Amino acid sequence: MSSERTVHVPVMVHEVLEQLQLQPGLTIMDGTVGAGGHSQKILQQMDSTSRLIGLDRDAAMLARSAQVVQGEQVILRESSYARLEPILDELGIEYIDRVLLDLGLSSDQLADTSRGFGFETAGPLDMRFDVSQGMPAAELFRTANEETLEKIFRDYGEEPEARRLAQEIVTCRRRGQPIGTAADLKQLVERLIPVDRHRSHPATRIFQALRIAVNGELDELETFLHKILPSRLRPGGRVLVITFHSLEDRLVKQAFRETTLWENLTRKPIVATPSEVRWNPRSRSAKLRVAVRKA
Ligand SMILES: C[S@@+](CC[C@H](N)C(=O)[O-])C[C@H]1O[C@@H](n2cnc3c(N)ncnc32)[C@H](O)[C@@H]1O
Repeated sequence: MSSERTVHVPVMVHEVLEQLQLQPGLTIMDGTVGAGGHSQKILQQMDSTSRLIGLDRDAAMLARSAQVVQGEQVILRESSYARLEPILDELGIEYIDRVLLDLGLSSDQLADTSRGFGFETAGPLDMRFDVSQGMPAAELFRTANEETLEKIFRDYGEEPEARRLAQEIVTCRRRGQPIGTAADLKQLVERLIPVDRHRSHPATRIFQALRIAVNGELDELETFLHKILPSRLRPGGRVLVITFHSLEDRLVKQAFRETTLWENLTRKPIVATPSEVRWNPRSRSAKLRVAVRKA
C-alpha cells in the first residue's frame, strides 16, 4: 500500500501549526503520524534544535510517513500512542513538549480494499490498525455472542437497530453464512436499516462502531489522556487532539476539565473553516481541542 499515492488530506493544518506554538529546542510527538501530512508541515516549521517523534499503530501507514517525514531530527516508531512510555525510556527522553493526536482513520486506510475499513470496498473484514495483534472484525463476528455485538453497535455506533443487527449476524453464522467481508456487512445493514439519501449511509456508523471495538480505540485514548500525558508531558507543554465523533470528543473534553492538571484553551473546540470544509469534506466533523499542562 505504501507505494501508492497518498489520498489523505490532513485537516486544519493552519490551526494545528498555530496552536502548537513551536519554538526552539522542543520534543514534539505526532502520535498518529499516518501519511505524515501534519508532520511534514511541523518539520518544515521546527528549528534545528527540535526533534519530532512520529508514531503509528499501522505499519503500512508508518511506511508511508517514512517517505515524506525524514531527517536526523525525526524518530519514527510503529506503536500505539498509548504505549509511548517504553519508547521515551528507550530514547532517554523524560518529557515531551508538544503532542498532536489526529484520531481515527486515514483516507489511505479507507481506500485500501484489503483491510475492510470502508463499506464501499469488498475486502475481508479485518479493521485492525495493527494486523499483528488482536482479532479481525470477521473473527469477532464468528465468535462474539449476541449481547456483545449489540453492545458494540449501541455503545460505539449509537445505533437504534443494534439488537436486530446483532441477532442477524448470529443467525447468518448459525446458517453457515458468516458475515466475513465489508460487502456482506453493508448488504446486511441495508436489509435492516432504511437508507435515507439525505443522511449519511447507516453502514457509516456500523463500520465505525466495529472499528472502535476491534482496536479498543476509546481505551487507548483514555489511557493516554489519564495515565501517559500527566506523567510524560512537560509542565507548560501543549496537547492538541483532533476528534471525528462525539464519543472521542467527550473523553477529551472531560479530561481537559481536570483543572488541577490542565489549562483548557478550547472551551469550545476549534473547527474547520467553511472554505476548508468545501475542499476537504472530511474536515466537516473534525474538532480540535487544546490544553496546556499546568506546572
Ligand atoms: C486521521 S489519520 C492521521 C493522519 C495524519 N495526521 C496525516 O496528516 O497524514 C489517523 C492515524 O492514526 C493511526 N492510529 C489510530 N489509532 C492509533 C493509536 N492508538 N496509536 C497510534 N496510531 C494510531 C491510524 O493508523 C492512522 O494512520
